[in-house]
Amino acid sequence: MKDKKLERFIKAEIKRQGETLDLIASENLVSAEILKVLGSPLTNKYSEGYPGKRYYPGNFYYDEIEKLAQERALKLFGLSPKQWQVNVQPYSGSPANFAVYAALVPQGGKIMGMKLASGGHLTHGHPVSATGKFWQSFQYGVDSQGMINYEEVKKLAKKFKPNIIVSGFTAYPRKVNFKKFGEIAKSVGAYHLADISHIAGLVASKVHPSPFPWADVVTTTVHKTLRGPRGAIIFSRKELSSLVDRAVFPGLQGGPHNHVTAAMALAFFEASQPEFKKYASQIVKNARALAEALKKLGFKLSTGGTDNHLILLDVRGLRLDGMTAEKKLEKVGIIANRNSLPDDTSPFKPSGIRLGTPALTTRGMKEKEMKEVASLIFGALTNEVNIKTRVKKLCQRFPAKSLPKI
Ligand SMILES: Cc1ncc(COP(=O)(O)O)c(C=O)c1O
Repeated sequence: MKDKKLERFIKAEIKRQGETLDLIASENLVSAEILKVLGSPLTNKYSEGYPGKRYYPGNFYYDEIEKLAQERALKLFGLSPKQWQVNVQPYSGSPANFAVYAALVPQGGKIMGMKLASGGHLTHGHPVSATGKFWQSFQYGVDSQGMINYEEVKKLAKKFKPNIIVSGFTAYPRKVNFKKFGEIAKSVGAYHLADISHIAGLVASKVHPSPFPWADVVTTTVHKTLRGPRGAIIFSRKELSSLVDRAVFPGLQGGPHNHVTAAMALAFFEASQPEFKKYASQIVKNARALAEALKKLGFKLSTGGTDNHLILLDVRGLRLDGMTAEKKLEKVGIIANRNSLPDDTSPFKPSGIRLGTPALTTRGMKEKEMKEVASLIFGALTNEVNIKTRVKKLCQRFPAKSLPKI
């Protein structure tokens, strides 16, 4: 590369990814083939519009690629094209959610999602997000154990009468009862948006119940458990799909990122292979093993455990707060983010750490290694020596094979 300055940063980042344990629940390591497609000349083309209806010429192959991504996405989640349509153009999860509200909620209408501090996403109506500014937002939380109280959600829905109810979360370690959310939405005449960004890979592999029978619209990022490129897709019931398509383009976006669309098509192909199903169920086995090992070391976990890919670790038992714990972990090469716990009083000083197993599972780690990871986390937080060396050794034993050689 001619630009040595930038090259140095990229090489250093590749080294960092190889030598650290990535426990960020929303991250993963894509295949070498996906990286190749992302770096392909498909990035050179403008394709505003949809297949067969583009605003520029020269789009024959992009039409085919976009249709392929759509077909594969529907098939992956077992959806009939007669009932569902999928838009594969959203640049990422946040614009995808925004597009859904723009399509289905009138200006100044009401959205109801989970609070950020309880595990919801900013785009579920947080006041600092445009979604909480352009629409009226009413939010539900979790109980003192960290669980969703569906009766409470129902009560709030009856009181606020939202136009749309959002299920699906950023930091919720338990199974989501999409059926209940669907019934609540129906009972108040609201749409049900299931945002499965975090658990899409688990849903596609049937290790988490599907929201589709109970939702009107389903959004997901492609880059988390689904292990694809950074981007998002929106599934909508056929009768809503032209509203959603128009909200994405021309409502919010210009040209789709064709290299990403192609990489999505590849990710959906990869996720439809039998190995991926094994991978997804190993993510959950690993999260359970990690949770058990952490509990044995004396840690408390929000909700007492996990059903999916993530764990909310309470670090107060070690007289730490989430920020200090995050820094201690980073120092030894364990990358995980601070997170609020249900009984936290200040969002600025969270007491927890969110841990996720998708990336470590991609590296081939299993239950045995999760015990080692728990011991490394404990060691890092209690200032044991040699943790950094042990982290590096574990990384060397389970190399991130898809990373380019440097
Ligand atoms: C549930 C959920 N929805 C939406 C998003 C937003 O995705 P993005 O960061 O790609 O905009 C996230 C990101 O973490 C998420 O967890």
